[in-house]
Amino acid sequence: MQQVEKKQRENWGSRFGFLMAAAGSAVGLGNIWRFPYLTGMNGGGAFIVIYLICVFVVGLSIMTAEFAVGRRTGLAAVGAYKSYSNRWSFAGALGVLSGFFIMGFYPVVGGWALAYAFKSVTGLLANPGALGDAFGAFITSPVEPLVWTLIFLALNVVIVAKGVAGGIEKAGKVLMPTLFVLLIFIIFRSVSLPGSGAGLTFLFKPDWSQVNGSTVLAALGQAFFSLSLGMGCMITYGSYLNKKENLPSNALLVTSMDTAVAILAGIAIFPALFAFGMEPAAGPGLVFVVVPSIFAEMGGAGVLFSVLFFALLVVAALTSSVSLLEVVVAYLIDQKNMERKPAVYASSGIMVVTCILSSLSLGVMSGFTILGVGVFDFFDILTDKIFLAIGGMLLAIFVGWVIKKEDLKDELTNGGTVKFALFEAWYNLTKYVIPVAIAIVAISGITAIAQKSLMIFGLLVIVVLALFSKKL
Ligand code: PFF
Repeated sequence: MQQVEKKQRENWGSRFGFLMAAAGSAVGLGNIWRFPYLTGMNGGGAFIVIYLICVFVVGLSIMTAEFAVGRRTGLAAVGAYKSYSNRWSFAGALGVLSGFFIMGFYPVVGGWALAYAFKSVTGLLANPGALGDAFGAFITSPVEPLVWTLIFLALNVVIVAKGVAGGIEKAGKVLMPTLFVLLIFIIFRSVSLPGSGAGLTFLFKPDWSQVNGSTVLAALGQAFFSLSLGMGCMITYGSYLNKKENLPSNALLVTSMDTAVAILAGIAIFPALFAFGMEPAAGPGLVFVVVPSIFAEMGGAGVLFSVLFFALLVVAALTSSVSLLEVVVAYLIDQKNMERKPAVYASSGIMVVTCILSSLSLGVMSGFTILGVGVFDFFDILTDKIFLAIGGMLLAIFVGWVIKKEDLKDELTNGGTVKFALFEAWYNLTKYVIPVAIAIVAISGITAIAQKSLMIFGLLVIVVLALFSKKL
């Protein structure tokens, strides 16, 4: 077993600070941008039911496991695996790669939100009928979205370069609760529009005829994405957590908050969408078209609310993207002995390039494809449909079969001082059920999905990482 040197670890300033930071990582574009459009594309209610099962059976168990591994080892993803066995370091490395790939498209969408906060003031809402076209024209234009993406990335660099407690924690504390309140306000507007009832029916009355293997894989992938799981992010955050915290109850809280925000975003968007006679399966533009349409109905106050909404979306995106960047940075600090600042600059330097390519792939570079998809989709599909789920499966196997049961119990009950009544259920679920369930979902999803060569490429990447695990 390799000796991993433990450096003095930075710690969270307070329990509320940790919770807000972990919830801040979880709540992001995944909840407000992605969850609604995936729900729309996958038929509504049935997708939500499957999603909730994935979240509370698989996601919650994996989050508990990630917190335990992180706090037990006091190390970020790769180091945590490595401290048990060198052979396993590839599972951590897969997480770092996922973080890196998600940061290849996430800042692009973060940039859109930033742009929309400003556009709200400069006349975006003046012509509600043209919101759909305006969004399409904006994201496909060659220069404008790039500028916003780069500003968004720069904000990440500033926050992560300052270190854990300083930057991330402060932002999350104030702004997450504000976002929550604003969503509730939008819901009131949305459900009071005439014709909004059809949206609620769409959300809460499952139509099972639309469900197949790829729906289930989409729901599972979204659960991992939304909860920031399967890539070591919550291992890293757990490693900064102090020994007195109750891990299972923190995991339950974060999972519930994240899910609540996603469902609220759905209730905010679909009633209005149906009231305006728009198409639920419209895809990634959903939130950027529907929410401004709601505000456009409100006159002058609408402008103010629109600015506020997109500004908060930017913050939600930021508290998530900093955690993604942190996974990559923590790897470079812990495993490659880099200092924080150079680690931040080096990794974000490469992200500038991947993000530019992603953004251009929606417009001028749309003819350029890798394994059948554009650069944006390449990063998105590869992480969300394969890396995160397999990352979660590997973590479950690792926790169930490599770490000693007594050690897990000790960690999850703080040495026997707090109760975790569901320990046995959690342990068996994580050890036996989850790995098998993920394998089944992944296989049936891959056979149902259109981008098969991309999926096979993803699996090959994982195999290659496993073969070279000693070097990671
Ligand atoms: N959970 C974030 C969201 O829903 O937007 C995205 C994310 C952050 C995924 C951190 C993975 C991660 F490690």
